[in-house]
Amino acid sequence: MKKEHIIILGVETSCDDTAVSLVAEGREILSSLVSSQMDLHERFGGVVPEVASRRHLEIINALIEEAMEEADLNFSDLSAIGVTYGPGLVGALLIGVSTAKALAYTCHLPLIAVNHIEGHMYANFLAHGDLPFPLVSLIVSGGHTNLVYMEDHGKMEIMGRTRDDAAGEVFDKIARSLELGYPGGPVIDNLSKKGNPLAIPFPRAYLEEGSYDFSFSGLKSAVLNHLNRQKLKGEKVNIPDLAASFQEAVVEVLVEKTLAAARDKGVRTISLSGGVAANQALRLSLEQKAREKGYRLFFPPLSLCTDNAAMVACVGYYQYLREDFASLDLNAVPGLQLISSL
Ligand code: KG4
Ligand code: ZN
Repeated sequence: MKKEHIIILGVETSCDDTAVSLVAEGREILSSLVSSQMDLHERFGGVVPEVASRRHLEIINALIEEAMEEADLNFSDLSAIGVTYGPGLVGALLIGVSTAKALAYTCHLPLIAVNHIEGHMYANFLAHGDLPFPLVSLIVSGGHTNLVYMEDHGKMEIMGRTRDDAAGEVFDKIARSLELGYPGGPVIDNLSKKGNPLAIPFPRAYLEEGSYDFSFSGLKSAVLNHLNRQKLKGEKVNIPDLAASFQEAVVEVLVEKTLAAARDKGVRTISLSGGVAANQALRLSLEQKAREKGYRLFFPPLSLCTDNAAMVACVGYYQYLREDFASLDLNAVPGLQLISSL
């Protein structure tokens, strides 16, 4: 790979995955390594922040070296370093941010501050190239649920977000109360295939007329109440039916709100991303409804739905083109939000 190519090193440590990637021209993945900490956090039923930061620190340098070797690059071949600076766990983010700053300083490279949620949105640009604007983007992960109208790169309006739990978070919490392990999304996704999604009529929170916000805490309580009631009555809980009915309630609201947002904004393109975008029922339902209504739907391959650094490098590429660089006093911002820029 020659110097005339724009090559971004992406670094991602916002939660429990340490990830490093090298991406050329915002499209070509030269290397994408994700070191999962699932084994460390599984027995606690969720991510333990201190444990996550320590593991990031232990492996980040070796992971960068490995990615550089895999891509057969020297630091002098790089154009810039893009790093997730929020949102996420502060201690975890700091490992990535400090590492990226140190590298940028010693290698005389520009530093690019990447919003993790934008990273998820850009997994689609990475996978499919330039999507037709304007578009409506649904981002659903363990920490975030956002509906965004995107007019162009760097020009967006935040239409809705969750008012309580994120979509992935409820999958994880329900799985934990069913003692199904962590993360809960993939387990519930699989179990649901054997269950009846119409078995239990769990509530759907559509909120006020015209609202694009989400709320999943009522659904979470309804599922937990159902479980407790069954236990008190001494009745056996049909886990696949419960999983499928819960999943159906989440998917229906996500799909309906996304279609309403696309209709109201008059766009023809919809994109779906984030860890929960790996959910088979969500992919299928949105695909079917989007097709019926004539929308073009884009979602990333499974490997780019959950956290990775290639998506971070892809955002870095577009920021590089706009010369949107950060200074070396960049700090981690755990509560970073997406901000409307229209
Ligand atoms: O994007 P991600 O890797 O991390 C965050 O930024 O949060 O998303 C992880 C979340 C977890 O809550 C996990 O349970 C959920 O994505 N998830 C799924 C599936 N695969 C991962 N949720 C539903 N169905 C899946 N197949
Ligand atoms: Zn994420």
